[in-house]
Amino acid sequence: SRIALLGAPIEAGAGRRGCLMGPDAYRTAGLAQELETLGHTVTDLGNAVPEDVAPVETGYGHLKQVETVAGWTRALHKQAKTLAAGKDIPIYLGGDHALSAGTVTGHAAAAAEQGRPQFVLWLDAHADFNSLGSSPSGNLHGTPLAYACGMSGFDCYLGRPVPAPVDPANVCIMGLRSVDGEERRLLQATAVTAHDMRAIDEIGIAPLLRAFLDRVVAANGVLHVSLDVDFLEPDIAPAVGTTVPGGATFREAHHVMELLHDSGRVTSLDLVELNPFLDDKGRTARLMVDLTASLFGRRVLDRVTRSY
Ligand code: ARG
Ligand code: MN
Ligand code: MN
Ligand code: MN
Repeated sequence: SRIALLGAPIEAGAGRRGCLMGPDAYRTAGLAQELETLGHTVTDLGNAVPEDVAPVETGYGHLKQVETVAGWTRALHKQAKTLAAGKDIPIYLGGDHALSAGTVTGHAAAAAEQGRPQFVLWLDAHADFNSLGSSPSGNLHGTPLAYACGMSGFDCYLGRPVPAPVDPANVCIMGLRSVDGEERRLLQATAVTAHDMRAIDEIGIAPLLRAFLDRVVAANGVLHVSLDVDFLEPDIAPAVGTTVPGGATFREAHHVMELLHDSGRVTSLDLVELNPFLDDKGRTARLMVDLTASLFGRRVLDRVTRSY
């Protein structure tokens, strides 16, 4: 395949500094080279630049850096919509998870114009389903999935309503183990499929993912994957500001990527929340690179049949 890398060094959505360094940590860890080794053609587009946004009055005093998040949303929405119309599979190098407010809505807008349903797989300890009013922390990286699903109150992000909200029925969250009180109510009032870690323990991550991928295939959908570092067990992925114990294991995470590869459905990918300032000699960056390699075809042995 042809793959485009776009850095999105936003940290305004997170509660602490450091995600700014994420894109360069992926470059240093050799992401482009690993993908080229697998036979892909990789273009590094450099880093996106946020738009300037005039002061916004949301009515909620606790929200942090609304204008900066809005500026990134506007820039990334446009760039994602353009990239979705091209030949390359974009990988967005975060940056905190607020960047997905731009990437997901940009891809969904392009999909709507192509008449294809947009699906989203959200791999995360958190649901990121807070509204502006329900966010307990004021950190806007806790909101992008609710926003992309068309929840009201977010017009300040793009400066207008989301052009093509993602149908919540086409969203699957896996890895949940930290959901806020009001966020939980908002999430459960939608048709989003949400698998917490208990579901993964009891049923297994592969059957849960296959059921979702079957739906993507049946609908001839396009699939955006948003991978938050904190989806992973913190022991193996310490470089994230919002660690929660009890995450996906090394093999669970690789297996998700391997099944996604075999499905042939992934059309765009976010790598978010890496905070290299917290890393242990780049091990989290390297794990994220290796997971991306699995998603793009790295395997131990060839399969006789497609395994997904
Ligand atoms: N639910 C919490 C909040 O809204 C944590 C969100 C963490 N999000 C993330 N992308 N790491 O503040
Ligand atoms: Mn997240
Ligand atoms: Mn998270
Ligand atoms: Mn387990």
